[in-house]
Amino acid sequence: LDDPAADPFEVARDAAARIAELTGVEHHDLALTLGSGWGRAAELIGETTHTIPATEVPGFSKPALEGHVGTLRSVLLPNGTRALVIGARTHYYEGHGVRRVVHSVRTAAATGASVMILTNGAGGIKEHWKPGTPVLISDHINLTADSPLEGATFIDLTDLYSSRLRAIAHGLAPDLDEGVYVQFRGPHYETPAEVQMAKTIGGHIVGMSTALEAIAARQAGMEVLGFSLITNLAAGIQTTPLSHQEVIEAGRAAEPVISRLLADVVAAI
Ligand code: 6GU
Repeated sequence: LDDPAADPFEVARDAAARIAELTGVEHHDLALTLGSGWGRAAELIGETTHTIPATEVPGFSKPALEGHVGTLRSVLLPNGTRALVIGARTHYYEGHGVRRVVHSVRTAAATGASVMILTNGAGGIKEHWKPGTPVLISDHINLTADSPLEGATFIDLTDLYSSRLRAIAHGLAPDLDEGVYVQFRGPHYETPAEVQMAKTIGGHIVGMSTALEAIAARQAGMEVLGFSLITNLAAGIQTTPLSHQEVIEAGRAAEPVISRLLADVVAAI
């Protein structure tokens, strides 16, 4: 993937072939990327029949961070559907390039998945959101100044976060809030002024993932659903300093509830 002459879609096809070889599962119907706080959802969705270290699959890099598990799982749902659960996210801030960031999404598409569910832990801009609140992503603003698309690939991003899938989630959880996700490059958190900017331009959630992945999923023809777990309020909205530890702990505390929600949504899809 680091070779500009390499075809990232060919690497994704190789990765999908390797997953099929290691699991014996030729086709996955949907895929989920589990971000901070969402890790336990896999156990509730169905039976994990295979767990693969991502390092055994072409194009995946080593996990960079504590709390980010580098595995791929094949999960059998009670209705016979297959989910590919991606616990191996590469963040843009790791500096390995956007191809690495979206490789798992392209791999999921190459395994046959037609639905991509992206989850993350993020900062909230709405004051009434308590840490531990799950929020549906209604749209995004990509402030990375980058794109997973290469060359003149003009794709439409209307309804990127599928209103069909969001309606299913709202049907299961009528109180579920929605918000516009703003992807910053990171890895530092935003300044209070940057958070005010995000709010002014229409954002409600700030984070360091998801938008680039959603674009790649749309390019691959997948339907996208996105969830943020509000792990803390963004800088200046909360008056205390932000810490990575706090983010991890909020994720742990909320995990049982939001994992249940995600499993219910997956079952309904
Ligand atoms: Cl406040 N900002 C960003 N960019 N990512 C976060 C966050 C804030 N809180 C959790 N993840």
